[in-house]
Amino acid sequence: GILCSDFPEQLIAVRKDAPLLIGYGADGNYIASDVTALLAHTRTVTYMEDDEVAVVTADHVQILGRDGCFLEKEKHQIQWDVSAAEKGGYAHFMLKEIHEQPDALKNTILPRLSKGQPDLADDGIPDSILKDCRRIHVIACGTAMHAGMVARALIEPGIRIPVTVSIASEFRYETPLIDEKTLVIVISQSGETIDTLAAMRLAQSYYAPVLAIVNVKGSTIARESNYVLYTHAGPEIAVASTKAYSVQLAALYLIYCRMALVRGVYSPVQAENFMKELLDAIPAMETMISRKDEVKNIVNHIISKSDAFFIGRGLDYAFSLEGALKLKEISYIHAEAYAAGELKHGTIALISEQVPVIAIATQEHIFAKTISNVREVKARGAFVILLVKESAVIEDDIADVQIRIPDIADSFTVFPIAAILQLIAYYA
Ligand code: F6R
Repeated sequence: GILCSDFPEQLIAVRKDAPLLIGYGADGNYIASDVTALLAHTRTVTYMEDDEVAVVTADHVQILGRDGCFLEKEKHQIQWDVSAAEKGGYAHFMLKEIHEQPDALKNTILPRLSKGQPDLADDGIPDSILKDCRRIHVIACGTAMHAGMVARALIEPGIRIPVTVSIASEFRYETPLIDEKTLVIVISQSGETIDTLAAMRLAQSYYAPVLAIVNVKGSTIARESNYVLYTHAGPEIAVASTKAYSVQLAALYLIYCRMALVRGVYSPVQAENFMKELLDAIPAMETMISRKDEVKNIVNHIISKSDAFFIGRGLDYAFSLEGALKLKEISYIHAEAYAAGELKHGTIALISEQVPVIAIATQEHIFAKTISNVREVKARGAFVILLVKESAVIEDDIADVQIRIPDIADSFTVFPIAAILQLIAYYA
């Protein structure tokens, strides 16, 4: 945005690589990089493209292309309401957004069910891209990338096709092995993360079809991708991604189930059962959010320490990555996620008296293995917080604290576990 004292009534705005929106308000016009900044003033916006220039005054907006010609650009109406961008009685946006997850999940999943089975036709996602791809490449950053790690652990064994997950800031500088038979799934809450956008453009230059999972309507990634599956989380104001992670997972579970259905891996009845189990995870998550005081009480064992470790295997390892990121980002406590079996190959040297280890063991087929890793860290004096299912059978003294989640199918434990990990980070 450029102001000049010779033209005090006028604001010039130019977009290059970072997002820019023009907001049309009753009391004036606005520029912003994010729609949430405008919600209190207007919900009518225009998305600018790279190299476009806007000349903004209180009652008039003119937009010019790079060649200086005037452009007629579409005005979009934002559906989010102002209350979505207010704290609504919660101490912080993060806590509010943690609580919003069950509703956000329902908003993302329910409109896509037809006779109980996932149907992405209304989103304009053709079955052919799910049926014909030979491999999947997921690209994202941070929490969104961790959602991709969960999807890999679900899709690869389920569909039996290779799934690679790439960090967008790495992928964008690589010479990737992808082609038109690779389905590229790009995940971004904001739809504006520059590394993810650049990675997507690179993937498209290899003719790979790109399916974007995005929360913000009209964002650059949503506009430039070949297909979009919108998550309906509402605006995410807190820096730490919480509800966006859950709905990204929900979108990935929908894609997985639709893919299984169109490839004949699942019968319609199996697809319906999968979706039922996914919906069962929502009350399980709600239960853990309502038990937040249980989590609040244990963070005292973490906040006085300089390091914390998160361990798990398979899907539980993918959840651990997100738990560690959340804790570092919000509490500034150093945290590491380790595949539980890998710990003994060096890192266990760092496990000493009272070092907090958050161990996640919700996957039946590797449960005993993770528990044996818990014994290893306990033997070195770690303070172990163990996250397991209600029905898990273990000795009482295996961990210092146990948090038990409702008994739901293994593939869906991410939802209640995510709530606990988010609350640990928040209270810490
Ligand atoms: C972590 C967090 C970040 C984002 C990442 C990607 O809590 O918020 O790791 O997940 O920066 O952002 P989006 O999803 O907007 O591309």
